[in-house]
This record gives sequence, structure tokens and C-alpha cells, in this order.
Amino acid sequence: MNALIGLQPHQAELRPPLVTPRLVLRGWHISDAPAALAVFGNAAVARWLSPAMDQVPDLAAMRLLLQQWIAESSRAMPPAGRWAIQRRGDNQVIGGATLLALPPGNEDLELGWQLHPDSWGHGYASETTQALAGWAFRHDVDELFAVVRPGNTRAAAAVRRNGMHWVGETSKYFGLTLQVFRLRSADLDEAAPYTQSPPTDAARSVAGQRSPSPA
Ligand SMILES: CC(C)(COP(=O)(O)OP(=O)(O)OC[C@H]1O[C@@H](n2cnc3c(N)ncnc32)[C@H](O)[C@@H]1OP(=O)(O)O)[C@@H](O)C(=O)NCCC(=O)NCCS
Repeated sequence: MNALIGLQPHQAELRPPLVTPRLVLRGWHISDAPAALAVFGNAAVARWLSPAMDQVPDLAAMRLLLQQWIAESSRAMPPAGRWAIQRRGDNQVIGGATLLALPPGNEDLELGWQLHPDSWGHGYASETTQALAGWAFRHDVDELFAVVRPGNTRAAAAVRRNGMHWVGETSKYFGLTLQVFRLRSADLDEAAPYTQSPPTDAARSVAGQRSPSPA
């Protein structure tokens, strides 16, 4: 076990921390449970995540979920994975981000973010998007998707702000009507306001194709 970042050595190699000007995206640790609960136990966040996941009721449930996420991430093939979003200024974990295969086909890779409401409106989701999309496109992925529930205006604004294009509405994921947005590598080049830097020792020490047709 790598004590510095809490990951097995091969995991650290598979998913090195992604460092942006203000954030480090790194694997989850069980010790993140209180910060994670503040996010995933928050009704204002969880309302947009169901039915993929429910509001987390307490610390014990959060710890269990983190255990599952860490295990899932260790089995997932990069670029897929789950990341904690840690602010570099104060080392606070302010949310999470995911690159996960969308059911039912598991062929489309979905980008997702979950930030504590205190951290909305600072551009952190955008900074995360740039870093994770850059990571995905370096792994032979041509396009990424975001699926947004109608009414989630903040998420819709965030995806558009980052160069994602509206594809259509679909009910093929989770049995809900969702708005589908797509990001291709050229879109990222146009939107890219951030440059991602390679992980530094300091960051390591704090951390760890096709188009869906709208139904
Ligand atoms: C969706 C979500 C991640 C969006 O977060 P966000 O903070 O609104 O998104 P961004 O990172 O793009 O931030 C943009 C805002 O930060 C402001 N901002 C401040 N500093 C900035 C900077 N340096 N760079 C960019 N934007 C900045 C922008 O002006 C914009 O403000 P506005 O919302 O008042 O127009 C967040 O609302 C969330 O976690 N929601 C709950 C979970 C959820 O819905 N997840 C998505 C499911 S599809």
C-alpha cells in the first residue's frame, strides 16, 4: 500500500492524480467519508443523482459506499473511474467526479460531477471537466457524454460552458427522460480555459465511440 496516497501502487499508476490550477482529482479514501457525506448526504445534490444513487443517510453508509467505489475503481479499466475533488488551497474535499459506462449498453462513457453547494459558482466543475476529458481523450476515447435531468439548469449550463453539444433527449438510461450532451476532443480544444499540469510531489502527497442515438 502506498501510504502517501492510499492506493495500491498499480492503482496509482493506472490513475495518477490529475492536477489543475486549483484542484487535485484523486482516488477516494475511506477517511474522506465526512467530507463525502457533506456532499452526497446533501439533498440539493442528491436530488439530481437519483435514481443512479440515493441521498446517503449517515457516515456508516458513506464509508460503505466509499469502500464500494474504491473497489469498483480498482477493477475499472481506465479512463473510467471515480475521483474525489480536492481543493489545493485548503486541501478540502469539495465533491466527486466520475467517468462511468452508461447502462444498459456500457458503451457510452458518462462524465458526472457532484459538488458541495458551497462550491458551486466557482468554476470547479468546469476545471474538473477539462481535466477528466483530457484524461479520457488521452486513452483512445473519442467522445464523452453527460446526461442531465430536465430542470437541472446548473448542470446544463456547466456542460454547455465546457463545449458539450446537445444531442437530444433519451429514455434509454435509468428509464428516465434525460438530456444528452456530447463532448468531442475538438470541442474541448475550443472550450479549454485550463491547462492541466502533470502531478507534482505535493499533489501526490495530498491525493491517489460512438454516438448514443436519442430514444
Ligand atoms: C452541476 C454542478 C457540478 C455545476 O457546478 P457549477 O459550479 O455551477 O459549475 P461551473 O464549475 O461550470 O461554475 C460556473 C459558475 O462559476 C462561475 N465562476 C467563478 N469563477 C470561475 C472561474 N474561475 N472559472 C469558471 N467559472 C467561474 C461562473 O461565472 C459560473 O457562475 P454562474 O453559475 O453564476 O453562472 C453543481 O451544480 C452540482 O454539483 N450539482 C449537483 C449535482 C449535479 O447536478 N450533478 C450533475 C448531474 S448531470
